[in-house]
Amino acid sequence: MTASAEVHKGLEGVIADTTSTSLVDGEAGALYYRGYPIESLVNYRFAEVMHLVVFGDLPDPRRLNEVEDYLWHAGRLPAEVAATLRVLARNGAHPMVTLQAIAPILALEPPAQRLGRTDEEEEGLLVAARIPAALALINAALEDHPEPAYPVSRRYGERYLQLLTGKLPSAEAVEAFEVMQVLQLDHGFNASTFTARVVTSTLAPPASALAAAMGALYGPLHGAADQGALEMAMEVGEPQHARAFVTQCLATGRKVLGMGHREYRVVDPRAKILKAMAERSATEFTNRRLLNTLSAVEAAFVEQTSAKRRALRANMEFYKGVLCLSLGIAKEYFTATFAASRAFGWLAHIVEQRQDNRIIRPAALYVGPAPREPGARQKVG
Ligand SMILES: CC(C)(COP(=O)(O)OP(=O)(O)OC[C@H]1O[C@@H](n2cnc3c(N)ncnc32)[C@H](O)[C@@H]1OP(=O)(O)O)[C@@H](O)C(=O)NCCC(=O)NCCS
Repeated sequence: MTASAEVHKGLEGVIADTTSTSLVDGEAGALYYRGYPIESLVNYRFAEVMHLVVFGDLPDPRRLNEVEDYLWHAGRLPAEVAATLRVLARNGAHPMVTLQAIAPILALEPPAQRLGRTDEEEEGLLVAARIPAALALINAALEDHPEPAYPVSRRYGERYLQLLTGKLPSAEAVEAFEVMQVLQLDHGFNASTFTARVVTSTLAPPASALAAAMGALYGPLHGAADQGALEMAMEVGEPQHARAFVTQCLATGRKVLGMGHREYRVVDPRAKILKAMAERSATEFTNRRLLNTLSAVEAAFVEQTSAKRRALRANMEFYKGVLCLSLGIAKEYFTATFAASRAFGWLAHIVEQRQDNRIIRPAALYVGPAPREPGARQKVG
């Protein structure tokens, strides 16, 4: 490779492959799964939209029953897997660290019931289905709580919230949670999805690709911006401190988490929906103050970055935390909750990658020393 070769830092604008799972229209601020706009899909259950993303179509009522029944059965952790997870979780690491470590193990001891069209798809579905119960177990170990019994509900959102909060959620909370999970399902070639595709391109098993994708999601420039944005709002404290906070961030090169996006030039369409939901849900004083603080940070950030080479607006992570808190999800579980949904999106990409695979192996422009010899080696000792 010659020194005149063009380097696409961050692979911006590089079209690495085709996909038919989701379309991100950054100029218009629109997102479609398999052709359907997210604004329509939020009226469906999570299991229905998951089916759309993974299998390509919305299920009829009979198939939906089958999907929900599968997720319930597959989602229960086998005793050996649970025992391994317990040991890991007691180390006290962040739930995302433990989840990434356990992910390949979650594929062991599959139940008799299947949903996947191939063994690879089945492996991915199994890992994704088991994430909610895995998180409940991690939570119990970290908080020293008794482990919750596996809930009887076949509804994904109801089961998830019950596992994580230990309480039976209201119908409104289940609806809101599933809308959030629908919005987190898939998003083009984002960093974690691309990671899953890179790993898959080596023909590594789906569970390994999912574990690697979780590692990418845990970065604060990607999925962990959700916890980061909420912690930032806590640090700012009051809306009147927002302007000075943003000024200082921009002066020192600190990223305001939850702001900016590689693709969107306008507000992220998911952020619009989540902000409205966060507003409706934040009835309690602390959450309302966090929401008002975030709103003030957004306004100051937009104003102070208006001269940047491209418009920077709120992304999905910015207001999500307030909604999660209102649903009883602690901030350490925001990114893991994101992973619980996105795992199905990763799987759709794993399947797509396997259908028309070529190993992903870009080139690098070498800028190190010119070829040379080390010379005579001096005697050691
Ligand atoms: C999402 C993100 C990683 C995209 O990165 P990117 O496409 O490489 O964006 P760029 O770095 O080219 O951004 C353009 C400019 O805006 C600045 N910028 C972008 N997002 C910023 C943010 N959140 N806070 C402060 N400055 C930001 C960049 O520093 C850059 O400034 P420059 O032109 O002076 O060099 C980036 O916007 C970011 O770090 N956001 C915060 C993390 C986050 O919310 N991630 C979740 C994404 S869904």
